[in-house]
Amino acid sequence: MRITPSILNADFARLGDEIARIPSADAIHVDVMDAHFVPNLTFGVSMVEALRTTTTQMLDIHLMIADPDRWALSYAEAGAESVTFHAEAVKAPVRLARELRSKGARAGVALNPATGVDRIAGILGEVDMVLCMTVEPGFGGQKFLDLVLPKIRAVRQLVSDAGLDIWVQVDGGVSVETIERCAEAGADTFVAGSAVYRAENPDAMVNQLRELAIAGCGH
Ligand code: DX5
Ligand code: ZN
Repeated sequence: MRITPSILNADFARLGDEIARIPSADAIHVDVMDAHFVPNLTFGVSMVEALRTTTTQMLDIHLMIADPDRWALSYAEAGAESVTFHAEAVKAPVRLARELRSKGARAGVALNPATGVDRIAGILGEVDMVLCMTVEPGFGGQKFLDLVLPKIRAVRQLVSDAGLDIWVQVDGGVSVETIERCAEAGADTFVAGSAVYRAENPDAMVNQLRELAIAGCGH
């Protein structure tokens, strides 16, 4: 059970300090938005290069951009250990995943709430993580969409049927209220933005979320 807090709700004026507040995190989730794929604009490669100099924690890049085929590799070259592109945006997912892995990064593929598992079922052997969005991407602090839970179950089933070691990540509205049902559905990697950074003690919240996830999955 991995907790990968999103810095989208952190204080952008002091990101290095904000990351240092969550030493118990399993990775730092970095939401890259281009104002095309989603109606919001955040970080680019140079920000990831700067973050790389401030932390040794795993950097988990979530590309909410229209042209991941063009840009994703730069994030791996900037030192990110994991780079996730959206199934709705990518043109050549097999090529991109192979290129990312050849750079030593984990390759992830993300699905918006309305995108079905059929979109990625054929390429599971090419990726290290499937990200199921549990809100429409673009902003932190939105309400968790329970309608995604059956898809999380379906992804977990596909992964275990195939005998693959693929992480199943959920992102959006994950909190003490919702994390147990995500874990019960088969997620093992949890992004939490506002839940962590709005907590009085963010690191304690990371540990609390992990304990709830472990309880939710039943082992
Ligand atoms: C949403 C981003 C999320 C977001 C999560 O588009 O991909 O990573 O930061 O924030 P919360 O946990 O507040 O929903
Ligand atoms: Zn994200």
